[in-house]
Amino acid sequence: MSEHVLVEREGGLLTLRLNRLDKMNALTRAMYASLADALEAAEQDRGVRAVLITGGPECFTGGNDVNDFLQAPPSSTDSPVFRFMHALLDCSKPVLAAVAGPAVGIGTTLLLHCDLVYVSRDARLSTPFVNLGLCPEFGSSLILPRLLGPMRASRMLLLGERLSGAQAVEWGLASEVLDDGAATEARARETALRFVDLAPAAVADSKRLMRAPQREELLRVIEVEGELFNQRLRSPEAIEALSAFTQRRTPDFSRFA
Ligand code: COA
Repeated sequence: MSEHVLVEREGGLLTLRLNRLDKMNALTRAMYASLADALEAAEQDRGVRAVLITGGPECFTGGNDVNDFLQAPPSSTDSPVFRFMHALLDCSKPVLAAVAGPAVGIGTTLLLHCDLVYVSRDARLSTPFVNLGLCPEFGSSLILPRLLGPMRASRMLLLGERLSGAQAVEWGLASEVLDDGAATEARARETALRFVDLAPAAVADSKRLMRAPQREELLRVIEVEGELFNQRLRSPEAIEALSAFTQRRTPDFSRFA
């Protein structure tokens, strides 16, 4: 279990708390593995009625750890990030997220697979894959154009524009915007606890029905995106962009044809 993920149990509510604030909760392989283990265990545990994912009151996550991307890029669909995202996709219990501050890359992508998302006014949702020489992942190339329309999806997926908390609600990516991180987590927790008192099989059936029409298509898209993403991670464009982040400079793509 990674020390950077805290797994908290309060009756029927399981909270997964990212706990690596000095690195903006950037997600390492070990953190994905812990998140996957916790979600897989929650699925088997009849006592868990809802799951809440949060990064605390200041920052959701700076996305995948850039050093991991450079040094140990995922090579197959067995890697911890795939295990985590598939556990999220397969979770039959309601998953809620409380988001304050930045939610970069996979931090925003994972929200697309949650059932309810609460955001702080200072939240900044972004999917800067192209800026990093990468491409969309885990279904975002399917879900975002469908949800936002192609123009807004291009602003997010091609230009990497950041959305504020209020904009995330306006665009349908989040359920409600709250004044600050503490209020956001409190609202998400309060809502998650409502599920504890609801009929669990009815919740699970309803969640499955809502997701069923898109599920096969989503799994196919995720496979195609995953192959391309893993190739792109090894591309000179991505290596330039990721190295630039670690060297705190602007990437230079001028040499690429
Ligand atoms: N991977 C590794 N380290 C990360 C990180 C990431 N994804 N995101 C942030 N960090 C680290 C920084 O390197 C810095 O570490 P240091 O103090 O040892 O130098 C620390 O977290 C604080 O980040 P910093 O950039 O100084 O904070 P900020 O408040 O100016 O900006 C972000 C915060 C989240 C906006 C910025 O860090 C960012 O854009 N990160 C995203 C990186 C990225 O491209 N992620 C991949 C997405 S696919």
